[in-house]
Amino acid sequence: ALVSSPEQVRFPSPSKKKKKNHLVPSLIGNARFTSSKIPLFKEDSVSMSRPFGLKDYRKIYERSIEDPAGFWSEIASQFYWKEKWDLEVYSENIDVRKGSIKFEWFKGASTNISYNTLDRNIEAGNGGKVAIYWEGNEPDDDGQLTYLELLERVCQLANYLKHVGVRKGDAVIIYLPMLMELPIAMLACARIGAVHSVVFAGFSSESLSQRIIDCKPKLVITCNAVKRGSKAIHLKDIVDSALRESAKNGVTVDLCLTVENKSAMKRGDTKWKEGRDIWWQDVVPHFPTKCDVEWVDAEDPLFLLYTSGSTGKPKGVLHTTGGYMVYTATTFKYAFDYKPSDIYWCTADCGWITGHSYITYGPLLNGATVVAPNYPDCGRCWDIVDKYKVTIFYTAPTLVRSLMREGDEYVTRHDRKSIRVLASVGEPINPSAWRWFYNVVGNSRCPISDTWWQTETGGLMITPLPGAWPQKPGSATFPFFGVQPVIVDEKGNEIEGECSGYLCIKKSWPGAFRTLYGDHERYQTTYFKPFAGYYFTGDGCSRDKDGYFWLTGRVDDVINVSGHRIGTVEVESALVSHPQCAEAAVVGIEHEIKGQGIYAFVTLVEGVPFSEEIRKSLILSVRNQIGAFAAPDKIHWAPALPKTRSGKIMRRILRKIASRQLDELGDTSTLADPSVVDQLIALADF
Ligand code: PRX
Repeated sequence: ALVSSPEQVRFPSPSKKKKKNHLVPSLIGNARFTSSKIPLFKEDSVSMSRPFGLKDYRKIYERSIEDPAGFWSEIASQFYWKEKWDLEVYSENIDVRKGSIKFEWFKGASTNISYNTLDRNIEAGNGGKVAIYWEGNEPDDDGQLTYLELLERVCQLANYLKHVGVRKGDAVIIYLPMLMELPIAMLACARIGAVHSVVFAGFSSESLSQRIIDCKPKLVITCNAVKRGSKAIHLKDIVDSALRESAKNGVTVDLCLTVENKSAMKRGDTKWKEGRDIWWQDVVPHFPTKCDVEWVDAEDPLFLLYTSGSTGKPKGVLHTTGGYMVYTATTFKYAFDYKPSDIYWCTADCGWITGHSYITYGPLLNGATVVAPNYPDCGRCWDIVDKYKVTIFYTAPTLVRSLMREGDEYVTRHDRKSIRVLASVGEPINPSAWRWFYNVVGNSRCPISDTWWQTETGGLMITPLPGAWPQKPGSATFPFFGVQPVIVDEKGNEIEGECSGYLCIKKSWPGAFRTLYGDHERYQTTYFKPFAGYYFTGDGCSRDKDGYFWLTGRVDDVINVSGHRIGTVEVESALVSHPQCAEAAVVGIEHEIKGQGIYAFVTLVEGVPFSEEIRKSLILSVRNQIGAFAAPDKIHWAPALPKTRSGKIMRRILRKIASRQLDELGDTSTLADPSVVDQLIALADF
């Protein structure tokens, strides 16, 4: 077996020649970079952190495409593997015409990601290094865990899980806010080979029960309540009702391990079901702080994460162990130019993929120190940056826009000198937000990594490498090593050069999801059938004359609200479940802060008049069924919806009405009743 320095993932070297100091060229597109302003990779710092520019990138990229097996196995060798992989390194079928879709990486190898994040770092002398800093709701509510302490806490929970009968391959649902117990629970599951499925704690009990019914967990891990601002949210009540609902559907969960979150709610106030509910604090600390790892196959499942699609119920995206481990660690290292001295803060929640790959796994695999905060207000964010001397700050455009609205003062009165890399994810970052992020937050001296990727891709796919080439505000620039994005036209033909079309990926990569849990057919149909021979991302994309990629948003019925992916059909079914709603059609509209907002057209049951009360209760229905983050911004009463003669709702027209582009309605003559459109416009309160 191989053990190497855990501090860094290193790249296979592109060439032995000594590199000249790379100067970042100035002015391409709208961003002006000069070498004096952008911190470059320094000769004396570790790993890739030598002068690194477009030429180096191209060389390494070419190697990664020509020889993926050699490239990735060289990187993978730096992790600990109990057994090494087969000679083949990877195998794939990405073409539905040739049979079932299958991606496999490091097949035959056995490893454990919890071992690689914790034990491996500790053995290399990093046990005393802080792994996670934690910031609670209140500024003085904070904490930290070293790698050694984190390992001990993970082991205690892993031992407890084994004690209650959780075995390799069993599912565990984690419904927790951003408490330390969340990454601990993820790593404990991974340690014993159990498959975690984290459900974002903003989801409603309906959504939670849907996920429980789908993956039938051995237990649910939650907490009694959490404070968001001044409000306490009773998570345990939500779990109780989800478990009741699941039981009605034949899925019973015998155990609910509950963290007592004292700052939000007292034990005595928590509703309790004897025999099923157990306080974490009463049992877990009594278990030993050492726990042998379960060695798992590289292709054994690591986690399930449910995400929204354009049709039907949420999809259980399944990621496996080996490829995901190698991919998240490597992308983290290079896209953020991570060095051991960095303090890294990602503002995401572990309930989403960003928190999985770039809070729990990628950074800790690199031995990084992570800051995990809770709901900062607009000044709090920079307080935290200064308090921990954060050097890498990874966030979402929606947060950037909302902070930008509050004015520069909140930012500029803080020092922020520690920051050297800024990064963004979740949705296209509009150039004005990009510039504010760059100029105000980064004082025009920090490169921005605009990282494009998805729950399905496991790790980032198209991203700048900080300072390595000129940036253009709003462009995610170039593919990461080993990633082959292509733009195809409607017929699925690859188009070259400057063009716009659908973004697809041509070959497998280690971090790719392997299936949708329990529904391989849906996996193939959704992602691999639209354009045979490719993985279809669901995103539109253009490429400019310099080869830069520009992501333009979803081309399917998925809306991206504050970086949260929501299927229009999910919102529609939540609306029509309201007893007075007959029909609903939901479209996305541009939203200044959230990127996209939700605009719902609703037809009420015959004879029911539209009123403020109905509007409110329709919104409540969505909050209850999905979660507050999916609440429509606008309810537009539609006595009838524009439909074709075959009864299909013309969403194109609804999108135009919702975005007030009334002179762009296009041809309405194919509608069964064109007068419906005028009626809708008359009822709009623009
Ligand atoms: O439309 C793209 C958008 O977010 C979608 C993926 O959402 P999700 O699976 O929830 O993962 C979000 C975090 C990785 C994509 O299909 N998206 C994500 N990042 C970007 C983006 N769009 C443009 N630019 C980005 N940097």
